[in-house]
Amino acid sequence: MKRRFLAMAPMALLVCLGCTVDASNDADACGPVDTTPGPMMRPGENCLGCHQDGFGEEAPEFSAAGTVFASLDSGSCDGVEGVSVFLTAEDGSEIELITNEVGNFYTTEPLMEEGPGPRIEFDGKTVSMGRDLPSIPACNACHSDSPVGGALGKIYLP
Ligand code: HEC
Ligand code: HEC
Repeated sequence: MKRRFLAMAPMALLVCLGCTVDASNDADACGPVDTTPGPMMRPGENCLGCHQDGFGEEAPEFSAAGTVFASLDSGSCDGVEGVSVFLTAEDGSEIELITNEVGNFYTTEPLMEEGPGPRIEFDGKTVSMGRDLPSIPACNACHSDSPVGGALGKIYLP
């Protein structure tokens, strides 16, 4: 396990040239993270580190993306399917994204700049981010095991 991680680390660094991805996230108690490009890729990692204009050559640009987990201390395989993530579009209308099998969500829809903060809903319970949408809505950039910007950690169920 450890050896495998060490062997993977330099590769991750190469792949991540020009984007901000924490290579230490490539393996946890869940085992190696699925890095195959597509909707199930890299749950918990900073999607916009690659899926943003000017970052990562081939990754299509997303306006927001992230992962919802079962709890703050979930591993990368503990993403939750079927969580609604509500964001506000440029025109003020509400957008609902639904997390997939690994807990990932993403959109290319233009969002209202520094509009209302996101809200997530699951099983009749809801929780809102008590602040405006950050100018770069890279959800997993702040919400990670090494949180920044005052976030407590991963995005997790209400
Ligand atoms: C290390 C860079 C990197 C990270 C981090 C990353 N991706 Fe990707 N992703 C890519 C690349 C590159 C492709 C495109 C591959 C291709 O089409 O050739 C891709 C493709 C995709 C696609 C398919 C898009 C399409 O239109 O074909 C989806 C969906 C996706 N990623 C979602 C995510 C989500 C959600 C996250 C975060 C949880 C994420 N990615 C994190 C690099 C990354
Ligand atoms: C610039 C950093 C930053 C970004 C980017 C960010 N958040 Fe947050 N978020 C915070 C902070 C700070 C809090 C308040 C402390 C906490 O609960 O983690 C918070 C709280 C939340 C909460 C409430 C958690 C709780 O239990 O009270 C949710 C849900 C949430 N954010 C979702 C999102 C989503 C979805 C995105 C992407 C659209 C996002 N966040 C992007 C910083 C950020």
